[in-house]
Amino acid sequence: MAHLSNPHITTGPSAQAPAAGLRAALHHVLALDPPPECVVITGDLTERGEPEEYAAVGEALGAFPRPLHLVTGNHDAPEALVEAFGGTRFLGGGTTTTYEVEHPALTVAVLDSKVSGSPGGRLGPAQLSWLDRVLSRRPGVPAVVCLHHPPVPVGIPFLDAMGLADGPALAEVVAAHLRVVRVLAGHVHRPVTAAFAGSTVAVAPSTYRQSGLVRREGPPGYTGELASFLLHVAPEGPPGTAWVTHTVPVDGG
Ligand SMILES: [Fe+2]
Repeated sequence: MAHLSNPHITTGPSAQAPAAGLRAALHHVLALDPPPECVVITGDLTERGEPEEYAAVGEALGAFPRPLHLVTGNHDAPEALVEAFGGTRFLGGGTTTTYEVEHPALTVAVLDSKVSGSPGGRLGPAQLSWLDRVLSRRPGVPAVVCLHHPPVPVGIPFLDAMGLADGPALAEVVAAHLRVVRVLAGHVHRPVTAAFAGSTVAVAPSTYRQSGLVRREGPPGYTGELASFLLHVAPEGPPGTAWVTHTVPVDGG
């Protein structure tokens, strides 16, 4: 499963670089051999959540030939996202930003942590019980839970101040389902890994620009580091064999 994040697609004079980054990452994903079973983009699809920006996301995705799942970030607007992609495979064929897709060997559960007017995130009890029901359906089949805000502090104070309010409640649900092989997030614009509720949180870098690793107070700014994405791999082996995560730098990103 390929895991991209934070393309921050926009329109106007700043449109070129983020669009080029997303296109380069998607191109690189397709060049993988074998290609991934599916792709997820964990939020901040756009810079401002405007309809024209979602149209530009659609142009960048084009006729992408693998299953691809979109996640809502704090820069996104769920209504505009649904308006643009509702009923398409990019939202699992549905018209909500919380949805699941059952691949033959993998369940993908997508959560919406957007809080209107805030850069921080929250899932809320209704979404968490929905997740619990989804994860109860196919015991033994690996599941990946996707959301924008990392459910644990990442050690960068600026971003931890706009983290997920109910990470511990998500941890309770995940801990009850051994099938959750990864919890995938974005938001940080850097790769970060953490143990989480018997599973592993993997935060994907941005396909556009990377934040600084700034572990004191204050905005981390952006660095010249290469764009990259994550590739989560189920190695051959008996059920329960651990998944591994690769960080893949993007040529031209
Ligand atoms: Fe974000």
